[in-house]
Amino acid sequence: MSASQENPMSTPPTAEQEYYANTARHYDAAYAADSLLTDIPFYVELAKAQHGTVLEVACGTGRVLLPTAQAGVTIDGLDLSSQFLELLRGKLSHEPAEVQARVSLFEGDMRRFSTGKTYDLLTIPFRPLQHLYLIEDQLAAFRCFHAHLKPGGSLAFNVFYPNYARLQEVGVEKLELEWKDPNDPSITVRRSFLRRSVDRINQFSDGEFIFRSYRGSQLVLEERSSLRMGYYTYPQIRLLLETSGFQVREEYGSFEKEPISVCKEMIFVAVKR
Ligand SMILES: C[S@@+](CC[C@H](N)C(=O)[O-])C[C@H]1O[C@@H](n2cnc3c(N)ncnc32)[C@H](O)[C@@H]1O
Repeated sequence: MSASQENPMSTPPTAEQEYYANTARHYDAAYAADSLLTDIPFYVELAKAQHGTVLEVACGTGRVLLPTAQAGVTIDGLDLSSQFLELLRGKLSHEPAEVQARVSLFEGDMRRFSTGKTYDLLTIPFRPLQHLYLIEDQLAAFRCFHAHLKPGGSLAFNVFYPNYARLQEVGVEKLELEWKDPNDPSITVRRSFLRRSVDRINQFSDGEFIFRSYRGSQLVLEERSSLRMGYYTYPQIRLLLETSGFQVREEYGSFEKEPISVCKEMIFVAVKR
């Protein structure tokens, strides 16, 4: 199903679509290996507590959407990447019929989509908002989220706290994750990030994710893919929410619900006014 107003075949892919298409085959294995990624129980509990319908914006391969549907919640998913939605459809096809029946998927852009429905809860797990770099795009997305919520509905999302020390690390390659290739356990994949530049006025950085596959100590494949990532300050998020008709209900600095002042992650649950 397409939720986009445009014909996706007639518009060139965005840089984000290219990045996720190039790296889709690594996504699930990489983040399964990320011990710092502890967000799933938070989003599943929130969805269960809502006792209504949920839309996950930028649902990707269903890392959060699938466990939410498995927990009995009716959930729609929207994503810009047809490759990711295809991976999710593949995983869904192995689920029991009642889980499949709870899920509808839409291909579309969070800045301008319409599923034709309104929801009790809209979630955006794992930082997809960092793919919006212009204030016009950010405002358009938040207004679109608002339009897809029922009166009193909730919006929940997380973005990273801008780690200013790390943003200084331009030209430095950092090893971030390592995992066994699920299709060939003799292969170890290591993912590094090389930050190329930072735009401190517009708040984004450009860099390259480098995936190196090793058999033993021998490098057998190197894949590089560029990605721009925006970053937000706390008052900027508050202002975006305020301007687009939301009131903050909860805010946390980690998925263990530490105060936002711990400056790790910025997690918000806001209510449609
Ligand atoms: C870091 S992944 C998060 C995926 C998923 N929420 C998760 O928790 O694993 C970011 C996702 O944002 C999607 N994305 C990027 N830009 C988008 C846009 N403008 N509209 C909708 N989805 C977008 C990507 O395709 C990708 O699936």
